[in-house]
Amino acid sequence: MVPRLPTVIILVLALLTPPVLPNKYNAEAADQESIRNLVVKTWADKLGGELWNFGEHVTRRQEVQESYKTATVEPRKGAELLEDIAKDIENMMLNKISAVKRIMDAAQNMAMSAPEEFTGDYTYVNAKQLVNPGSAEAFPTNGYAYSNGNGNGETITPAMSDKPQEMVLTANKHFFNIPVNTSYSAVHVPTNVYDGAPEVMRAIKWSQDLDRIFIHNYRADPFLSWQYFGSSSGFMRQFPAMQWKQEPVDLYDCRTRSWYIEAAASPKDVLILVDNSGSMTGMRREIARHVVNNILDTLGNNDFVNILTFADDVAEVVPCFKETLVQANLANIRELKVAMEDMETNSIANFSLALTRAFDILQLYRGARLGACCNQAIMLITDGVPYNFKEIFEEYNWRSLQPEGFMPVRVFTYLIGREVADVREVKWMACANKGYYVHLSTLAEVREQVLHYVPVMARPLVLGRVDHPIIWTPVYADVT
Ligand SMILES: *[C@@H]1O[C@H](CO)[C@@H](O)[C@H](O)[C@H]1NC(C)=O
Ligand SMILES: *[C@@H]1O[C@H](CO)[C@@H](O)[C@H](O)[C@H]1NC(C)=O
Repeated sequence: MVPRLPTVIILVLALLTPPVLPNKYNAEAADQESIRNLVVKTWADKLGGELWNFGEHVTRRQEVQESYKTATVEPRKGAELLEDIAKDIENMMLNKISAVKRIMDAAQNMAMSAPEEFTGDYTYVNAKQLVNPGSAEAFPTNGYAYSNGNGNGETITPAMSDKPQEMVLTANKHFFNIPVNTSYSAVHVPTNVYDGAPEVMRAIKWSQDLDRIFIHNYRADPFLSWQYFGSSSGFMRQFPAMQWKQEPVDLYDCRTRSWYIEAAASPKDVLILVDNSGSMTGMRREIARHVVNNILDTLGNNDFVNILTFADDVAEVVPCFKETLVQANLANIRELKVAMEDMETNSIANFSLALTRAFDILQLYRGARLGACCNQAIMLITDGVPYNFKEIFEEYNWRSLQPEGFMPVRVFTYLIGREVADVREVKWMACANKGYYVHLSTLAEVREQVLHYVPVMARPLVLGRVDHPIIWTPVYADVT
């Protein structure tokens, strides 16, 4: 701001002087001239002074200068700044993780200690029936189930009742000013699930004690917003309790939401090995590509993947994804699919080389906990193997066998072609490595057959009872 002033003045003077200059060497008017010059000089001084003062006033030059006198210079290190930010974010994430872990631990204990048989009547806070006290008249009583979670003596079977449930709901700024009650969670039961069914009631009942954990989490971390518990029986507990908007119709089922699916269908590292030896031409090549595309379609953001093609040498189908697994996000999946389009076939397949490379990459990721940190699989797509390569599996997949038979990598084999000879070996590879063997001879059956691997991989981690990975899903909007 400050340095602009002189420029302004010079400009004004320059505008004023030109009419004077041509007269300067006019001898006749020399006397007059000197007077004029004087006058002009006075004008200029006056104007200049005015402008200067005006400038001082507008730019507050003095104040700015003054303010710099008290300022101190502090060196800042970019790396440190970044580290601080990273630490803050990490703490924030860790808080969320411990909140989820508390819910998980409590839920596991409750589910296990809950009585097997569900007996008697039980009422729960039904999110679809919540109303503020006094506004019950406005509530449509068109056959909604009614139950009372406030323990005022109501003992109607929930599925058979139809009255609203009263609860004090107050707008809360933590929850976007939505009226909530932070003393309770509320249950949402999808329209297609019968809440009177014994297994549903049993789970709703035991999960009621989660309120304790929800409230604790909410007090411990004020930045935590909604907490949900989704049950495989279909209902969902939401904390804090709020009214469930069901306009026009309620199609919500927590089991179809990404947060539920991604957590239930455990994350995986998938290495796809595609045989591109000389025999994999024509239809076989088409089927192989179709299999790959279908496998890729079953993967999500929490999965890691890569494709290796092999003949007498092994190569990543996308050259820059060298010796890594990449996140199965849309961009990477597209990259892999495009690269598969121009797969060339030639020479003879070297299976030992391909399998060794695949196990090495998976082992690296498992050891460094870089990938999905959960399931790992090799998908072998070929038109026949000459031999079962037992020693490779022995070395990489079985030597770490723990007492309960833990095998780090599952092997799925996809045998392609109408007339195939060596079925036995391919089948053995899959079965000996907790995988699945599929024989494919037409394009049409690919999708259906490929999907067989999903339930095998998605076997709930709960059965493992050791490691429960935390799943991060993309930002989850509070809609529907
Ligand atoms: C929750 O609802 C109950 C029953 O309606 C009420 O007594 C209580 O004050 C409410 N709590 C909060 C935090 O709003
Ligand atoms: C496969 O590759 C390995 C390592 O390069 C080599 O030792 C082996 O002889 C190859 N096998 C065949 C059948 O070409």
